[in-house]
Amino acid sequence: MGAVLDLRVMWARDPRTFGDTGVMAEFSDVVRSRRMTRAFTAEPITEGLLEHLVDLASRAPSAGKTQGWHIVALEGAQTARFWDITLPASRRTQFAWQRLLNAPAVLLPFADPQAYVDRYAEPDKASTGLGAGPEAWPAPYWTIDASMAVMTLLLAAEDRGLGALFFGVFRGEDELRRSLGVPERLGLLGAIALGHPADEPERKGRSAARPRRRTGEIIHRGGW
Ligand SMILES: Cc1cc2nc3c(=O)[nH]c(=O)nc-3n(C[C@H](O)[C@H](O)[C@H](O)COP(=O)(O)O)c2cc1C
Repeated sequence: MGAVLDLRVMWARDPRTFGDTGVMAEFSDVVRSRRMTRAFTAEPITEGLLEHLVDLASRAPSAGKTQGWHIVALEGAQTARFWDITLPASRRTQFAWQRLLNAPAVLLPFADPQAYVDRYAEPDKASTGLGAGPEAWPAPYWTIDASMAVMTLLLAAEDRGLGALFFGVFRGEDELRRSLGVPERLGLLGAIALGHPADEPERKGRSAARPRRRTGEIIHRGGW
């Protein structure tokens, strides 16, 4: 019994080893160990795992339970379409994170403002006035909801020993949307590269040297 417990303590230090063990990682370990991954192997994601991650993400909070977010999933050879448009050959050779392109999946999370407008026009929400249109909203709940779902997905990926990078799509968004047939009303949050982390990590992200803010800098007890 003691040996079993000791093993669990050892595993708990490295949730990446949890992948196929079926042992549940401590939540705080998953949160602490999650780092953006910028170097992947080409190993495909196990069948059904994407559905598992999205199933967990679908449990994230959602205003009015609208759940107005979608994911366009490019897998295997389909990822080439994303890279060809957003990182054309002329720029690719200088790209600092070459093994990012190995990721076997690129997920594109979209938020749907109209879904929130429609939901808040329903009788139980109509008094808010938010059914009038996206301009009536003091905060874009569609982006907030989709972001919460993306964060849940990133943690779910970590829990399963996968690596992920959320990154901005700074080039080619219009062409990408056209090429994938995405309705115009949807807003793209960014992209998520997903897969198995390479043994040798890629050079760190540009912000890696910035210190994490301490709780004392974040909490303003009783007011600012
Ligand atoms: C909204 C958002 C946009 C980001 N865009 C990029 C990006 O374009 N390229 C990149 O390498 N990392 C990007 N990141 C990752 C951040 O650099 C990273 O989360 C931060 O440096 C903290 O590192 P960690 O997540 O590994 O702890 C982005 C993260 C967020 C939340």
